Amino acid sequence: PISESQQLQGVCGLEWDPALCSTSGKILIKGGTVVNAHHKEVADVYIQDGVIASVRPNIIVSDDVTILDATGKYVMPGGIDPHTHLAMEFMGTETIDDFFSGQAAALAGGTTMHIDFVIPVNGNLSAGFDLYMNKAKNSVMDYGFHMAVTKWDETVSEDMQIMVNEKGINSFKFFMAYKGSFMINDELLLQALERCKKLGALPMVHAENGDAVAEGQRKMIELGITGPKGHPLSRPPLLEGEATARAIRLARFVNTPLYVVHVMSIDATEEIAKAKMSGQKVIGEPVVSGLVLNDSWLWNPEFATAAQYVMSPPIRKSGHDKSLQAALSSGILQLVGTDHCTFTKTQKALGIDDFRKIPNGVNGIEERMHLVWDLLVESGRISVMDYVRITSTECARIFNIYPRKGAIMEGSDADLIILNPNASFKISAASHHSRCDTNVYEGMTGMGKVEVTISGGRIVWDGELKVKPGSGKYIKMPPFGYLFEGIEKADLALLSSLHSPSRIGRSAA
Ligand code: URP
Ligand code: ZN
Ligand code: ZN
Ligand code: ZN
Repeated sequence: PISESQQLQGVCGLEWDPALCSTSGKILIKGGTVVNAHHKEVADVYIQDGVIASVRPNIIVSDDVTILDATGKYVMPGGIDPHTHLAMEFMGTETIDDFFSGQAAALAGGTTMHIDFVIPVNGNLSAGFDLYMNKAKNSVMDYGFHMAVTKWDETVSEDMQIMVNEKGINSFKFFMAYKGSFMINDELLLQALERCKKLGALPMVHAENGDAVAEGQRKMIELGITGPKGHPLSRPPLLEGEATARAIRLARFVNTPLYVVHVMSIDATEEIAKAKMSGQKVIGEPVVSGLVLNDSWLWNPEFATAAQYVMSPPIRKSGHDKSLQAALSSGILQLVGTDHCTFTKTQKALGIDDFRKIPNGVNGIEERMHLVWDLLVESGRISVMDYVRITSTECARIFNIYPRKGAIMEGSDADLIILNPNASFKISAASHHSRCDTNVYEGMTGMGKVEVTISGGRIVWDGELKVKPGSGKYIKMPPFGYLFEGIEKADLALLSSLHSPSRIGRSAA
């Protein structure tokens, strides 16, 4: 784990050493299988000034170029994690991983960009944005922001436009849960969806019925169930299914695309599948914890063990994990995030007497690339190209930064990894780079190891971290991504159907 003093000095072995960590800025990756979402081939990759300069077989270079031999290995775009919470104030505390330690962990696991959620300050978006830009100033890799909207008024509505047109934010998250703090009701959600559509920004939902969750929690406490198992018992999958269905239908009513974050259950997955079958543009994002874990941990009699696994929506019973894996591998769910949101044992103990006070969240930013590779590629369920798509390219496309990110192409940012399919990984809190003192994937092993991570054209991980505070860039994400194409035409068709209803079959009319 990374200490505070390492943060001050940077991390390069033990201290930030510019002489050791800087290179000529020119790197040649030789002989690997270069994988993009649409294609793979054996080729060399030449990197100069932070950008991919050339991708083709047998590139000849001069002496001042660092050469990495990738024979027998995969050269892939660095992972992009669409869902993280670094330095977030939440449930009476703040996540233990900030933008430095969380990103260092990410790089050690092959992720070279993440999109974090700005939480407004007392509902104010501009203040939230400024706060998060400051939190991220020591970044060691590139990052972007979604923005949560936790209340609704004219200022919020106007600020949304500023965020989109000036600040580089093209997605807003709405919480249908966390009653009394982040939650907004349907009336506000509907207005927010209209506003997002107008701005070309993608609405995202945390889909759980917050009113019913509050009632479920009250019942558990009344029954004397105060420990961590009260968490999943109070908010069952049907409440996730209900809210997912409601958000999908409201999005259809407004005719806007929708992104459902942290899909954790069969119930929610089925709603997304159904919407897709009717032609609706809905993106579903499973997270690693939902794909890999099940709720048995939450029944562990040891509070400290069980509390580690408390997140929302909850990690479900065995069976949901398999369905989420199947949906991801078949394209019903399109990309994979982590919801990395870490709290130490001491922080989790805030809820020792009452599960409602356990800070919600689990780790994953360092483990995602390894666990998804082992789970889906090593097991033979998806191709290496699909792996690139679900861990990187699709995220870049959805958030409109492709092919600068998510591709190994001439002109793309030099964010990439070398993965050795014949080497193994082992996960432990003792060796991970997060500051958290626990790891929900403790002891897990698998095949496929990220041996090298290159971020912004620099080797930042080769078994040792070589990161430089402040080297990460804020990536602005422009509005009207591909999901918005055709929306206007569909609106016009709907309008004309008001006069001749036989022309189209959209049920929203
Ligand atoms: O438990 C979770 N998921 N914590 C992070 C906040 C959120 O809802 O994404
Ligand atoms: Zn070094
Ligand atoms: Zn959420
Ligand atoms: Zn989250």
